[in-house]
Amino acid sequence: MRRALLDRTAEGGCPHIQDPGDPPLRICTTIEEMRTACRAARRAGKRLGFVPTMGALHEGHLSLVRAARASSDVVAASIFVNPAQFGPNEDLAKYPRSFERDRELLEREGVELLFAPPVEEMYPAGAVTWVTVEELSGKLDGRSRPGHFRGVTTVVAKLFHVVEPDAAFFGQKDAAQVAIIRRMVRDLNLAVEIVVCPIVREADGLAMSSRNAYLDAQQRQRALVLHRSLMRVQGLAEAGERDAAKLLAVGREEFTGESLVRLDYFEIVDPETLDPVEDVSGGALVAVAAFVGSTRLIDNILLPSA
Ligand code: PAJ
Repeated sequence: MRRALLDRTAEGGCPHIQDPGDPPLRICTTIEEMRTACRAARRAGKRLGFVPTMGALHEGHLSLVRAARASSDVVAASIFVNPAQFGPNEDLAKYPRSFERDRELLEREGVELLFAPPVEEMYPAGAVTWVTVEELSGKLDGRSRPGHFRGVTTVVAKLFHVVEPDAAFFGQKDAAQVAIIRRMVRDLNLAVEIVVCPIVREADGLAMSSRNAYLDAQQRQRALVLHRSLMRVQGLAEAGERDAAKLLAVGREEFTGESLVRLDYFEIVDPETLDPVEDVSGGALVAVAAFVGSTRLIDNILLPSA
């Protein structure tokens, strides 16, 4: 039964149907408890997959859980709204929290271990040590959100030390985060495989995000400009345009006249270094961030090498 479900999940990405024989979800709130549970799984010879999140789960998060299930024996997840990655004027206090619902969703998807620590457990008083991926952390979102990626890499490194996963699953939705975490893993020789999963979208193209919950009906409609601008660039690139400047002009143009939307950045960069490229022949990341009202949304596409 389990095998059949796993195979189906791997092929079609369809939801796991909870089996009465599945182990229940175990919630750990201390580092000690989570570390012991994860070590026990690995000592029993199980391959451990890990999905870090900040909760308010949607299909994007669940796609990572399904990918983890398809290639791991045991799946661990974390829910931790990490204060270190929010700027002083950002949405930490109002970030959506829905623990009970998240817990149920994870249990239904067959997650066995959930790490949900309080802030003091992750950042005891006097903690002054940070993990910074120099250079990359100041690019794209890092330019408009100073300190954000330092907070991300620090918490992800800490989570990796607690869970010690064989593989960790991240979404392409946060393309700069992916590049920075990959670089951290490489530079610090961390023994974890990073698996990146495609962006999950709403039917009309809007990339799923916990922050979409902040949008009212009008803003939700206006938010489609992010995806639309990327699709225009993709269409032009597919028609043979290689010049990044021309592609950028077309993408940015889509935002003119959008009074409720303020473009933060629209860039075409190398997906690993996050440096701008002039020509997209070698493949490129087209990334956009924009404020819809006060909500900051991001999206991106990867252009394949020609
Ligand atoms: P969070 O925003 O909760 O996202 C958790 C994971 O889900 C990330 O890897 C993110 O890229 C992925 N994800 C979000 N929306 C997605 C979508 N529409 N399609 C596919 N994947 C999607 O990213 C974070 O949390 C934090 O920075 C974290 C890594 C947990 C560190 O605090």
